[in-house]
Amino acid sequence: NKSAIAIAIDGPAAAGKSTVAKIVAEKLSYIYIDTGAMYRALTLKAIENKLDLDNEEPLIELLTNTTIELEQSENGQLVLVNSIDVTAEIRSQSVTNSVSYVAKHPRIRKEMVKRQQILADKRGVVMDGRDIGTHVLPDAEVKIFLIATVEERAKRRYEENTKKGFHSNLEKLKEEIEQRDLLDSQRETAPLIKATDAIEIDTTSLSIQDVAQLILKEVASTRKE
Ligand code: CDP
Ligand code: CDP
Repeated sequence: NKSAIAIAIDGPAAAGKSTVAKIVAEKLSYIYIDTGAMYRALTLKAIENKLDLDNEEPLIELLTNTTIELEQSENGQLVLVNSIDVTAEIRSQSVTNSVSYVAKHPRIRKEMVKRQQILADKRGVVMDGRDIGTHVLPDAEVKIFLIATVEERAKRRYEENTKKGFHSNLEKLKEEIEQRDLLDSQRETAPLIKATDAIEIDTTSLSIQDVAQLILKEVASTRKE
């Protein structure tokens, strides 16, 4: 029975992964799992504990003692760390600019992948991140790799910030996105890369609904096979 499948969505920062993943999950009544939120949650704790982000051992110990839960609520997905709601805090500038240093450690990734695979155990899941199609769900029936020019992605984040009520520097946002993409693509363990069997969608001039429709079409044709 192919009706309940796994959908993996990967790509660089601000390509539209989480926005589109949520829409696709809702349309299909699937669960949505934001794996970036898990790396962000650990990074938040590491910063609070003033850990050296280049040193893997204390980070591993921290992760071992940290529960990370993704909870669906009417206001969207909540992220709970040791039962405390950190949904807003994990999006802070300091977490955003540190998370790739935490996510580069092989044993941290191994533990995160293990937890993510448990969360996705039942089919009927949309999961987004950097290594979902390549490592977390290599058997996912549908794999999508979303890209867009860095100018467009910086503009999207800029507009998102403006909507939230704070002004940001477009050029600086662009540099931060480029830096994070570079770290994520060049790390040794599970770098950001398109799975060979993933479908690449360039979203630069597509609307959110366009992208969601393309993915839903792909899902429909996979389920018919
Ligand atoms: O939403 P945004 O593109 O800003 O990033 P995110 O999906 O929240 O991911 C934050 C960071 O976590 C990424 O830049 C990666 O360093 C790391 N990450 C990862 O290494 N593997 C994943 N599967 C998901 C995120
Ligand atoms: O999860 P990821 O970092 O890949 O991106 P996101 O947080 O889902 O999306 C970044 C921003 O781009 C959001 O404000 C979206 O509304 C916007 N956007 C998009 O996601 N897709 C488009 N085709 C156009 C805009």
